[in-house]
Amino acid sequence: MRAFIITLTLAHLYTQILANPLAQSLKTRQAPGIKQTVGTWLYKGCYKDFGPRILAFRFDVPGGNSAERCTAICNGHGYGLAGLEYGSECWCDNYMPYGQLMSDSDCSFTCPGDNTELCGAGNRMLVYQDSTATPPSPNTCITWRDASSFINNVLQAVPKSGSGPITKLYAIPTNPFTDPLYYTIISTCPAGCPYTDYYNFGLYGSVLRSYNSLPYAPNVGDSQAFTSQSSAVGYAGFCPKPNPLSSNPFIGYPLLSVSGHTDLWSLCTNTTAGGRQDIVYSPVVNHPHYVKSACQDVWIQIVPYS
Ligand SMILES: *[C@@H]1O[C@H](CO)[C@@H](O)[C@H](O)[C@H]1NC(C)=O
Repeated sequence: MRAFIITLTLAHLYTQILANPLAQSLKTRQAPGIKQTVGTWLYKGCYKDFGPRILAFRFDVPGGNSAERCTAICNGHGYGLAGLEYGSECWCDNYMPYGQLMSDSDCSFTCPGDNTELCGAGNRMLVYQDSTATPPSPNTCITWRDASSFINNVLQAVPKSGSGPITKLYAIPTNPFTDPLYYTIISTCPAGCPYTDYYNFGLYGSVLRSYNSLPYAPNVGDSQAFTSQSSAVGYAGFCPKPNPLSSNPFIGYPLLSVSGHTDLWSLCTNTTAGGRQDIVYSPVVNHPHYVKSACQDVWIQIVPYS
């Protein structure tokens, strides 16, 4: 009986405090906000998360998610990035390949473990980076991620020098579909190209696919070619690598590597194909289809399919 009375009294007192205008203003001042720093971890932004996870590894947070707890968990597992999403979710990784920066106001869910902090929202991840962590090397394949992380992508050619535009790349058939040796190459597919929907490339482990076609090993001086032949094996020498051009070595669109190289791709004007711009692996002089000196060296950037 006594306990019941005390509870009632406390409840009454609480109602009175809430009704008090001073208490109201204190409450407003304590609206949850984005924690900007947590020890050596710095807030990097509110990012869109969709399809393939922008950070790949999820961990449970005993006691409820908060910036302090999630960054501590990621730190304990040796990761340099931590992400808070949907209030309760804590994600970690060494590299963020697909981050699209959104407005801070998108990340609006209160943290279950600390109601003064925000913990992302649906498809929105608050990302922290450990300023003392070592970023992954641009020479190393991003193989620590799930093999299915990169199966739904678009490729873009990024000029290595100058200020040329970034160009979307397509898989262009070079012979009739009815040909048993039907194959495609990677090209910019200029205006008038009938295959403008052929731009979904995927890395299945270390095999780069264009739709159902499998890649041949790259030939020096030739276009990167794919075949639809069912007996083809598919060259397994591809991988994504961290983007060395990005201002943040932990965040960026990965670059396509083949046979250990990200730096041998070039865009060449194909003189026998109406001046179409084709991707060539390590251009050579005296090629029947292009003039090497007119080729433009490019990186091939891997971006999410949309
Ligand atoms: C140039 O076009 C021809 C005909 O479509 C094609 O076979 C060849 O692979 C293309 N690219 C290069 C670099 O030769």
